[in-house]
Amino acid sequence: MRTIPMLQFALDFITLPPAIAVASITAPHVDIFEIGTPLCKAAGLDAIRAVREVCPNNLILADFKTPDVGWLEAKMAFDAGADLMTVIGGAPMATVESALKTANEYGKEILMELTGVRDIIAYAKEWRQVGIEWMVYHRGWDEEASNRQWSQDDLDTIQRLIDMGFKVTVTGGLTNETIPFFQSIPVTALITGRAIHAAKDPVASAMQIRSTISRLWGAPRPDYLSPTGSNTDFEAAAKAIRWGISEMDLLLTTDGTTCPGCDAPGHLCRGTETAIFVPDGINVDDLIGAIERIMGPSNAFGKVNHAAFYLDPAQIVNFTPAGVIQLLTATGNALTGLGHRVDLNSGIAAANQVLGN
Ligand code: 5RP
Repeated sequence: MRTIPMLQFALDFITLPPAIAVASITAPHVDIFEIGTPLCKAAGLDAIRAVREVCPNNLILADFKTPDVGWLEAKMAFDAGADLMTVIGGAPMATVESALKTANEYGKEILMELTGVRDIIAYAKEWRQVGIEWMVYHRGWDEEASNRQWSQDDLDTIQRLIDMGFKVTVTGGLTNETIPFFQSIPVTALITGRAIHAAKDPVASAMQIRSTISRLWGAPRPDYLSPTGSNTDFEAAAKAIRWGISEMDLLLTTDGTTCPGCDAPGHLCRGTETAIFVPDGINVDDLIGAIERIMGPSNAFGKVNHAAFYLDPAQIVNFTPAGVIQLLTATGNALTGLGHRVDLNSGIAAANQVLGN
């Protein structure tokens, strides 16, 4: 299943008010807020609590880069409202294990921070054995200032980590212009700090970066796809999905913006992929899992971010109009199974009308 990397925004401030101000306006365009290490040192747990209060729907990562007493710092971060916390790669294995034990008790995540780790793959093997699943691949600010460039070696190492089963997040001076360098690898999140908070318009910058990520990691255009369907078929199928989804009272979205309707001048549709807001109270991963249990694994559906999922009929293997209806039906049944009842009959009737059935 294809997944679009999440956007993590590092709040690297040394006082709390500007961090809160920028977090509250960028929240719809960001998946994870990172309480940056400087902010952790300046405002500590109050920073986590304050961001949690103004951004209740985002994930929060506390970038503690913990070197010792893993369980205590993990407990402090999670009690304050964080979902993820970093432990520095040079920490003893006892610290890694104690932080991880606490994270498992809370149902939260520990990420190993690779800053300064020289033999990443050797350490990664040990971390994998104790159950670490996430890591932060990081070009530090000091390294960047001493002219360390991103290279093919970085891409190779990140890919090896992903092949070992890690979810890898990548950071270190990333901008809208440098993000395409990573597009060949299925990273879990791309992290930007200065590219958003130091921008003249942080909201516009977050939206632009989010849109670049969706474009680069999103579905290829229909003409590169299955030889069994023509572009006209795919376009009709995408329209059938949009109409069907709307009849099911679900909201279409692009980068957090609600669809104004097919005929509006600013309509949002791009290609054959339709992004849909996940209804309140439903977890996007649960929804994707439920659709997969009905349909089996497929690139025709997947997660866009914590608030949205996509349907893309052009990705149906052995494409047929019946497959489009099956995709819509699986989505409706999955939502109903998770407690959000939708009017599936109306959705299917609208889709059939578009498909000429
Ligand atoms: C510095 C950090 C930063 O949070 C990370 O590098 C992201 O910030 P930027 O995009 O400005 O480099 O962890 O140690």
